[in-house]
This record gives sequence, structure tokens and C-alpha cells, in this order.
Amino acid sequence: MSSPEPTGDTLDAPADSETDAPVSPVEATAASSERGGEWWRTAVIYQVYPRSFADSDGDGVGDLPGITSRLDALADLGVDAVWLSPFYRSPQRDAGYDVADYRDVDPLFGSLADFDALRARATELGLRVIVDVVPNHTSSDHAWFQAALSAEPGSVERGHYLFRDGRGDDGELPPNNWESIFGGPAWTRVTEADGTPGQWYLHLFDSSQPDLDWTDPWVRDQFVAVLRFWLDRGVDGFRVDVAHGMIKAEGLPDYTPPAEAGSMGGGQGDSAPPPYWGQDGVHEIYRSWREVLDEYPGDRVMVAEAWVEPLSRLADWVRPDEMHQAFNFSYLETGWSASEIRRVVDASIEVFSSVGAPSTWVLSNHDVVRHASRLALTAENPQGHGIGPKSLGLPIPELGLARARAASAVMLALPGSAYLYQGEELGLPEAIDLPDESRQDPTWFRTEGERYGRDGCRVPLPWESGSPAFGFNATGASWLPQPDDWSTYARDEQQGVAGSTLELYRLALRLRSELGLGRSTISWLDEYGADVVAFRSAGVTVLANTGDVAIELPVGEVLLSTMALDGPALPANAAVWLRESAV
Ligand code: NOJ
Repeated sequence: MSSPEPTGDTLDAPADSETDAPVSPVEATAASSERGGEWWRTAVIYQVYPRSFADSDGDGVGDLPGITSRLDALADLGVDAVWLSPFYRSPQRDAGYDVADYRDVDPLFGSLADFDALRARATELGLRVIVDVVPNHTSSDHAWFQAALSAEPGSVERGHYLFRDGRGDDGELPPNNWESIFGGPAWTRVTEADGTPGQWYLHLFDSSQPDLDWTDPWVRDQFVAVLRFWLDRGVDGFRVDVAHGMIKAEGLPDYTPPAEAGSMGGGQGDSAPPPYWGQDGVHEIYRSWREVLDEYPGDRVMVAEAWVEPLSRLADWVRPDEMHQAFNFSYLETGWSASEIRRVVDASIEVFSSVGAPSTWVLSNHDVVRHASRLALTAENPQGHGIGPKSLGLPIPELGLARARAASAVMLALPGSAYLYQGEELGLPEAIDLPDESRQDPTWFRTEGERYGRDGCRVPLPWESGSPAFGFNATGASWLPQPDDWSTYARDEQQGVAGSTLELYRLALRLRSELGLGRSTISWLDEYGADVVAFRSAGVTVLANTGDVAIELPVGEVLLSTMALDGPALPANAAVWLRESAV
């Protein structure tokens, strides 16, 4: 695909002009990471969404052997680890986040032996492997829930979940007013064994995803066993799904979220958290899990998917005896504005440093509009709502891609860890024009098409421009249709092509590692004006122009540029890393 040219030569050891600066909390933790080998503090971790990465058997859904066969591309990209979204036994009503057996691989994705083979290949390639754990809810097909359905109200089995009697004279009204994150009520009424309408169970997500009751010690024991199962199989850690949701406020009080809140709970501001998010009781669970991880050799890690605001509250998830990382969704949700980016970066470094943790930067994942589209939206789009043909404020693709490349160049220069979502290294945009009949996200169904949901960021990857399904498999089948113009994004079209998004990411990851950007500190540069993100780190000047007009570049060696440069000027929506010449 036609793209501007990033530049950069192989560099020697970093000439860090800042090493004499006073030791900051970030430097202190960086130093300890070198001593203790805490790889995760600066790691770049690549999210593999198994359904859509690579499909070995041609059924249209990606699988573990497919991932294994393509892992070398990720080693070549230069990432440190992969995180695999769920591949466990599941009826797939929420793309695998509805788990029916936590200790087995769904036949759709392969077998436990396929997982072991993937793990072994990753080790050969020097890649660590993180897996998902989904503790807030099970699938309604899970044996625990089936047993609860068959058991009496008040039974031990029902006590593993949140069954309650309904309100109203005959219990015909749900126990409270909570809404499902995917739309519609968060409660479903069951039919008891005698055929009468019975109790209700809570499901913060789809009705096929009943919430567990984490005040039940039995539930806690089950998950410790699940963690040990995967730790024993050699995983390097866990991404913890809905890590802000497992404990609900006593009495399950009514609650109406503010209109601006994203699906997963953004927009809470400084107010008290909703009764189902961010309750204090979650922390003792993670402390107990941390003890389990710490029993194992090597640095096994937990990363929290916790949609919690403000950042100072999120920092509680990464206190020294809890998790290692928490996705920085405040950063992800920041628009293309230099002042906003500066503000969130400052706040992040401050609050995470205060608990000795790295910030964990992220711009895309399988739940949000891809940043190559999101950064050029011109209308509000709360997380989880997605975009489709009838959405307002749809992005101009070229603008979105330019901003995404610049935003990624900023992110990969920041100290701490960063997560990439599969396909962002190809510059993939959101697939907006998916036919209605192909959509699969429960959000689409539960809102009767009012919200498009997340399918647009989950479309199978293009590997080879001239092959069936663009090389996703050999048959051309694809569980979500790939847009016709995705041949231009295919990896083989970009590999070795100067200026392609793939080569930009490869260069950024190589320089980041060689220069030590992940373990450095940043100092802001004020002289470039309000519209420019400008900082120096590890001897490198990083500039990103979020304004409308080009700015003058300082004299120096351009190490990386997200757009072709025409003289010493940085165009709008572009970023550079450069080493300034001494004057
Ligand atoms: C967060 C996951 O990332 C999302 O995909 C899923 O739908 C919900 N949790 C429920 O598990």
C-alpha cells in the first residue's frame, strides 16, 4: 500500500543524556526490573484474537494451530509476548467470553495439545504467552450453572451465582433496575423444576453469561485451581476479564448510570462507583491470586481489564501485592488532542509510579473501535457501541490512518508497557460496512440493532493479498466478511515496503528496545506550542502534531517518521522521533 517512508538506521547503545537526573519512581522501578527481570514493566504485548488471527482448518474461524503457524510474524515484528483472548470450551455466544469449561480448549480452536504446541513454539521464538481468565461470569452451559438451575432456591448450587427472588406481588419484576452492558435487563427469570416461574439470576452481560457470586469461598477455590492449571502448563500470566466487576455492593441496590458512561463503565469521574463496578472487595481476591502466581518460578503476571476512573482509583489494581498491570483505558479514550494526551500521560505516570507500577498503554483491542478509525470520528461514540453504515461522524480513512500511525509512535515512545491489538500493525481500520446479517456481537441483538457493537474490530486478518480470505485460511471462509479493499492492508503487501505501517511498527519496536524508551523517563518540551505532543526521552525528541498546520522541526537525525517529510517541517497528524544535533 502506498505510504510515507519511516527512516532509521541501526543504532548503538543509547546515549541517554538524562541518566544523571535524580532517580524518579519510574527509574527506580525500571532499575529493579533489570535486577529482578520483571520483563512486563517495559514489555510490548500483542493481543491475538484467536477467532480472527489465522485459520488452519479452513472453517472460517481462526484456531490455535493457525496461531502457531504464524507466530514467527510476531517475533519478526519485535513484540515480547502475546496475549490470547479466550479459546476455552464455550458455546461462543460472546465470542468465547462465555466459558463452559475453563480447563479445556474448545474444539473450534483445537485441543490442549495444540495449546502446548503453541506454547512451545512461542518459547522457541522468545515470546511469552498470557492467557485470558474470565472470572466474573461463566457460560450458562457451564456445569456449575446447569447444576444451579436444577437445584432449589437457597441451595448451595444456586449460591455460586447471584440468584434472587423478584420484586412485585408474584416476583414478576427483576430484583433491581440494573441493565446489561450489552443492552436490556441484567436479570433473567428461570422456570423452576415444577414448571412455575421462579427466581431471577444476574448477568451483567448476555443472559448466557450468569455472574458468579464471589462472596462464596467455593467460587474462589475453583478459580485458584483454574489459575494453577494454566500456570502448570507454563503460561506467563493472565489477562483478567472484567477485573472491576466481581464483587457487587451489599444488597444489590438500584443504580442508573450517567448517560455518558461507556458500556464497560467509563465516565464515572470522581463519583462513587456503580454498585457492580470497582467495589473494594475485589482487591482481596487479587491479593490471594498474587500469592498463587508468586509461588511459581519466573515472572508470571496479571493484567487487569478494569474500566475504572479516575486513574488514581485504577492504581489500586496495581498495588505491589495485587496485579502487575492494568490497561490504561483513560489513555485509550483520549482524543487526538495534544493537551489531552499530555494531561493523561502526566496523570498516568504520576499515579502508577506512586504505587511502583508501570503504566500500561493501549490504543486498540477487541472491544473498541480500532484507533485507525476512532481517532478521526467526529461524533461521540461510547465504548462498545461500535460504528456502522448509519453512524454519525464517520471517519475519513486517510486521516484516521495518519493519526493512528502518529498516536502509535507516541505510545511506543512512552515509558512502561504497551499492548498492541492484532491488525493495528497493518493500519487496519474498523470494518464499518458489515452486512447486518453477518453481525454476531450480542450487543447488536440485545439492542435490536441500535448499537452496532464490536464486530467491526474483529474481522479476520489479511495476510496475503492474492490468497483466499487474504491468507486467513485456504478456503476463503471467514466468520465475518473481510472488506474487499483489505488486500491493500495484507501483511505481504507491507513486508519490506519502506513507509508501510508494518515497517513503521517494526522500526518503532526495534528502536524502542535499542534506545531503552520503555524504561526511560520523559521530560516535556514546551517550545513547540499547544498542538504538539513534545517530549524527550532516552536522548530522543518525540514530536506529534495534533494541529492543522505543519510545524518547524529542530535540526537533527530523524530516526522515525510517520509521514514522508518534505524538509524540516512536521505535517499535521504526523509524528517523528529524532536525535537533535548539538548546537
Ligand atoms: C470484556 C471482554 O473484553 C469482552 O469482549 C466481553 O464481552 C466482556 N468482558 C464480557 O466477558
